[in-house]
Amino acid sequence: MSLPAFLTALDALVAEASRSLTTVGDVEGLEELRVRFTGAKNGQLKSIQKIMGSLQADERPAAGKRFNEVRDAVQLSLDEATARLQSSPTAKKSQGPLLDPTLPGIRPRLGHLHPITQTIEHLKEIMGRLGFTTTEGPEIEDTWHNFVALNIPEDHPARDPLDNFYLATAGKNSVDPAAPDAMLLRSQTSTVQIRVMEQRQPPLRIISLGRVYRPDAADATHFPMFHQMEGLWVDRHVTMSQLKSVLRMFATSYLGSDVHIRFRPSFFPFTEPSVEVDYFWNDNWVEFGGAGMVDPNVLAAVGYDSEEYSGFAFGLGVERLCMRRYAITDIRDLFRSDVRFLRQF
Ligand code: PHE
Repeated sequence: MSLPAFLTALDALVAEASRSLTTVGDVEGLEELRVRFTGAKNGQLKSIQKIMGSLQADERPAAGKRFNEVRDAVQLSLDEATARLQSSPTAKKSQGPLLDPTLPGIRPRLGHLHPITQTIEHLKEIMGRLGFTTTEGPEIEDTWHNFVALNIPEDHPARDPLDNFYLATAGKNSVDPAAPDAMLLRSQTSTVQIRVMEQRQPPLRIISLGRVYRPDAADATHFPMFHQMEGLWVDRHVTMSQLKSVLRMFATSYLGSDVHIRFRPSFFPFTEPSVEVDYFWNDNWVEFGGAGMVDPNVLAAVGYDSEEYSGFAFGLGVERLCMRRYAITDIRDLFRSDVRFLRQF
């Protein structure tokens, strides 16, 4: 063989090695190429090396130099291909298509409404069938709507700073609950009774659902933030028996026709007479709200004529209702944001 032919063969070898080693996709293919190019017996480098012996003596130094370069280049391509396949997760799986269309798809995980939000929607729907429309009020309130107009005088314990989240007055670090402009996170949704009656004339039949805040230590049945459903019906000749019927119909609709509820005499400054409402669950009576006939002082505070109109009001704990319906025994589970819990609803 002539020297030019020898060099051309070397060039072809290195080109082919480089091309095949940069595209090889699995370790078995790589091993085949390694044997084909550098195999000790029949490798292409070995075969070419043997031909070197047939060259003329003065051609051998140039031929040997080029041969060594090609051998090193092939080895480098092999090393690179090995490194590439070791770091590639798909290549290791060797043959077969990278995508297996027979595998089940990855189902996207859709979220859903929080159980309390679902409960609120459900309660609105039941009360809607009883003719109650939904209204809303702010969570940050003044003392007029949270207390004064609700017949809660300044010295009443319900206004105690230890039982309420008063907000620091703008520009000051301190809280003055007695200040005329004192603000707080509402402690009850009864504020909305006042806001609605200030805006509208009877007859009215509304509910309002939202958050209320009280500095209670969290335990299985208490949480410093919870939700209430307030209800208010004002018209001529509204009576206590209608109040009881509405709450009974509501409770059986939401909790099932076998639920036992009872009305216990109680006291609220803004209703007279007043009751607390309990359901029976797990051998216990559990309070889930307060109610009563709207106190004439409240009707007077919003400018209604208490000789002409009467009304009833109620405030129910949304969590307490939701918990009994779904047999949730710890209110804190609702607010831990643990998807393993929330996913069940
Ligand atoms: N606002 C009262 C509470 O939070 C409940 C209530 C509402 C009682 C309406 C009577 C009438 O405890």
